[in-house]
Amino acid sequence: MSWKNKLIIALDVSRADRALEIVDRLGDYAGAFKVGFELFVGAGPDIVEKIQKKGKKVFLDLKFHDIPNTVSKAALAATRLGVYMFNVHATGGLEMMIRCKDAVDEACAKERLERPKIIGVTVLTSLENGSLKSELCIQHGVKAHVRHLALLALKAGLDGVVASPREIAVIKQNCGREFLVVTPGIRPSWVPPADQKRTATPQEAIREGADYIVMGRGILKQDDPIKALELISLEMLSA
Ligand code: C5P
Repeated sequence: MSWKNKLIIALDVSRADRALEIVDRLGDYAGAFKVGFELFVGAGPDIVEKIQKKGKKVFLDLKFHDIPNTVSKAALAATRLGVYMFNVHATGGLEMMIRCKDAVDEACAKERLERPKIIGVTVLTSLENGSLKSELCIQHGVKAHVRHLALLALKAGLDGVVASPREIAVIKQNCGREFLVVTPGIRPSWVPPADQKRTATPQEAIREGADYIVMGRGILKQDDPIKALELISLEMLSA
């Protein structure tokens, strides 16, 4: 896969016009654009169709986390919107993930829709061992917890997981090379980590085996996003 197809740009803005401007400006540099809460809530589901009409793929990052019935219905709506990829929290449990995947598979077969990639969110890249232990009462550390949730997502038949670049190796070792790893928390060396705790550079993430890297502020908050993208592409190619 070329470096462009591995790069997903996070459209972390709230207005449709601003998001579409970014898609027009940076569209040649990315395989897909990520629509998260901010844009989806601010601009509504139409924004997904508008981006897709420009010939761009959408990763719908709404991290569904609810009872199996509710998540399955939301997953069906995402599938009918035509997204390329969407995600659910693996901590929603095995039944939730299985029912979500089954509902999507069935609808795709019946309605002849393209099956989106379904990705499980493991541990947010803004969390680390201390917060897992003291706030969430998870004693065994980030890496072990990510491994556990990735195996659960694999068992449910999902296509892959979202995890930090630091856990790519353990996921690939345990779930197989085909199991996709989508990594946010990517920071080129010249960008501060901000609220992200488990970060790596684009070069490190690709070298570890990331299938997709998601980048927001490392591109959009730079004075010259195209220049930033050119430097990022060099980093990815050198991996
Ligand atoms: O600006 P930055 O590159 O940190 O943006 C990362 C994007 O990836 C954000 O839109 C964030 O919501 C998303 N994300 C994340 N950690 C996850 C899943 C998604 O940072 N585990």
